[in-house]
Amino acid sequence: MGAAGVRLFPETASTMASRVDALYFFLLGLSCFFGLLIAGLIVYFAIRFHRKQDDQVGAQIHGGMALEVGWTVIPLMITMVIFVWGASVYFAMAHPPEETLNVYVVGKQWMWKFQHLDGQREINELHVPVGRAVKLITTSEDVIHDFFVPAFRIKADVIPGRYVNIWFHATKPGRYQLFCAEYCGTKHSGMIGEVIVLEPAEYQTWLSGGAPEGSLASAGAKLFQDLACNTCHRPDAQGRGPVLEGLFGKTVTLQSGQTLTVDEAYVRESILQPAAKVTQGFQPIMPTFQGLVSEEQLLELIEYVKSLQALPQVQTR
Ligand code: CUA
Repeated sequence: MGAAGVRLFPETASTMASRVDALYFFLLGLSCFFGLLIAGLIVYFAIRFHRKQDDQVGAQIHGGMALEVGWTVIPLMITMVIFVWGASVYFAMAHPPEETLNVYVVGKQWMWKFQHLDGQREINELHVPVGRAVKLITTSEDVIHDFFVPAFRIKADVIPGRYVNIWFHATKPGRYQLFCAEYCGTKHSGMIGEVIVLEPAEYQTWLSGGAPEGSLASAGAKLFQDLACNTCHRPDAQGRGPVLEGLFGKTVTLQSGQTLTVDEAYVRESILQPAAKVTQGFQPIMPTFQGLVSEEQLLELIEYVKSLQALPQVQTR
């Protein structure tokens, strides 16, 4: 920590932080070791082998097998250690655990919008509980942004038209800086916020504090009715569109014979470009909803489709 309150290193507040730091310090140590070794040898050799008489000529050297094998194999082993270590940290970061608390994130010039599944919405502030894996499903309304929380050592591009998952497991309650780390226009530097990590009990209190609009899924259910999606996507399989009940996470066969797993990106695409990947046995008759639903509404609809999982197979409606 610097004298003027400038921290040399960000706080360590997630399970990933110490792993990233360990790798970073290993690389730093390695670089220092070789940097000093090489600089030291240059000085030592310059003194030890400098020309003492004007007529001295350097000896001819015709290779040294042991030396050449050595300076090939040793760096190879060192770089392999860096590769395997780095890859293991990368994979841990790229693969969220099975059980996560999901929060939707929409980046926009120039703010961060968060939507909790229970309906709470936040801007530039994200409340999460300590000791639990949190998965952020991120997208952008306009340009590429980048979600960066130094204390958690997480940083990922937030891309329009795509859902990028970022996850972290906070280990310490507190308030942590959130930055946009991709130049995104005039007020890029002002696109900052805070992640507020609460004790589980405090988090429950915060959650119960307010969700005037109901859960994300119920907002989606209403929208589903308002847009008349329900006239074609009927639970009784009599509609002109596929049954959505129990669909999320399943594998479907497309007209082309290809199969794919129904995820957020597929639901999104099917709403915006319905003809792109039509399910086998159906006609490409669905109109596009491009321009009619916002990013937030897309998330509500996706969450509604997801919520249809939990319903029993026998429909009671
Ligand atoms: Cu958003 Cu920079």
